[in-house]
Amino acid sequence: MFERPRGTNDWGPEDMAKRRFVESRFVQLAESFGFREVSTPTFESLELFTAKSGPGIVRELYAFKDQGGRDIALRPEFTAPILRFYVSDLRSRPKPIKVYTTGNVYRYEEPQKGRYREFFQLNAEIIGGATLPSDAEVLALAIGTMRAIGLKQVKARIGNIGVLRSFLPFEPADQAVVLHSLDKRNFPMLDAELARLGRKDFAEPLRKVIGLAGGVEILAQAAKLLGGAGKEGLDYLQQLAGLLAAYGVAASDYEFDMGVVRGLDYYTAMVFEIDSPNLGAEKQVGGGGAYSLAEVFGGERVAQTGFALGLDRLVMAADAEGTTEAARALDAYVIPIGEGARTKAIDVLRSLRAAGLGADIDLVGRGPSKNLDYANAIGARYAVLLGERELKSGRATIRDMASGAQREIAIADLVDAVQGRSG
Ligand code: HAM
Repeated sequence: MFERPRGTNDWGPEDMAKRRFVESRFVQLAESFGFREVSTPTFESLELFTAKSGPGIVRELYAFKDQGGRDIALRPEFTAPILRFYVSDLRSRPKPIKVYTTGNVYRYEEPQKGRYREFFQLNAEIIGGATLPSDAEVLALAIGTMRAIGLKQVKARIGNIGVLRSFLPFEPADQAVVLHSLDKRNFPMLDAELARLGRKDFAEPLRKVIGLAGGVEILAQAAKLLGGAGKEGLDYLQQLAGLLAAYGVAASDYEFDMGVVRGLDYYTAMVFEIDSPNLGAEKQVGGGGAYSLAEVFGGERVAQTGFALGLDRLVMAADAEGTTEAARALDAYVIPIGEGARTKAIDVLRSLRAAGLGADIDLVGRGPSKNLDYANAIGARYAVLLGERELKSGRATIRDMASGAQREIAIADLVDAVQGRSG
């Protein structure tokens, strides 16, 4: 017996149906927003992920040398791969470029419920739009996806990391450490860093600012605490609220939260996270914001914004709120009675399948009553029984598995009967 690697999941048919349901709602909505699908490799050169974040990120990655001695990493997310793709191939296209992708990503994390080493993301990016309308569009898609899945409990927290950045007049590396300690709410580390940088006086306003969450009124409170720094970023959030209202995003769907700092280093301005409050510890189902990576990868300066939703967590949320659709039931299970009936039964099976119905056939050679048990167990809507005697007269027996009602009909009428078009 082999065990699955730690932090990975198997997806059985019922779970997979839920996952496809959630994913398809995202895909439909993204397409309706004018996003187009792209796909990038599962592994990339390690440097793609260390370029912005530094070598420290490696311990959070699945990184290894391939047989040619190249440093490789399994993708921990989609933003860096998509921006690499943009810089190398997509940048001559008309802007803005709006793309989405779905797939598995890998992070070397301590696994627990809702936190895995292999998980799935639904990801969208806008490259080259104006900042404000693009940020609003991205938020509308992210929050809209949650609604399209049927989730009622949605809470987006929107902040602006540019506000904190403009308050912290440090070298990028020092700024990153301070922001990281704020993201983790690691105050001893924050104090130590600020002491090292000779700005112990920043500790109090920073702690207070990241504690601010609520409606537009908190923006003025933040401005006051920061002594005027970050005013532009705070005004920006106010304008964003206006556009979100135009998109029909309810004020109750989000709040401003100056404590949204994000774990990834590339964010520059608006940042957000979305929670599904009933998920417990790992309740964050999505995150994103405006960032700068094209420049790091050799491209020109251009506005970039996007988000990823965690598919595993969305499925858990949809399950908890009971919004997932049941897997499509098999329409008909065909039972040849006696091997002499098999060829004709396959004929019938093919005509059902050709009509777009879900149809299956006995592959074991069981007797009729065992086969009916099986049809029942797999949840087939109808069983179609074909005996040699009935076949001679061009007829079959069709049984409604829910009611047990059974009747003989002409084989020519079978498709209509299973489709529910005849009595
Ligand atoms: P992220 O916040 O690192 O952002 O990940 C997005 C979502 O992936 C999280 O909100 C969470 O639902 C899910 N997630 C993260 N780690 C795990 C895990 N170990 N197990 C299960 N689910 C997890 C990004 O990845 C950015 N690339 C988003 C983005 C796109 N920003 C701009 N564009």
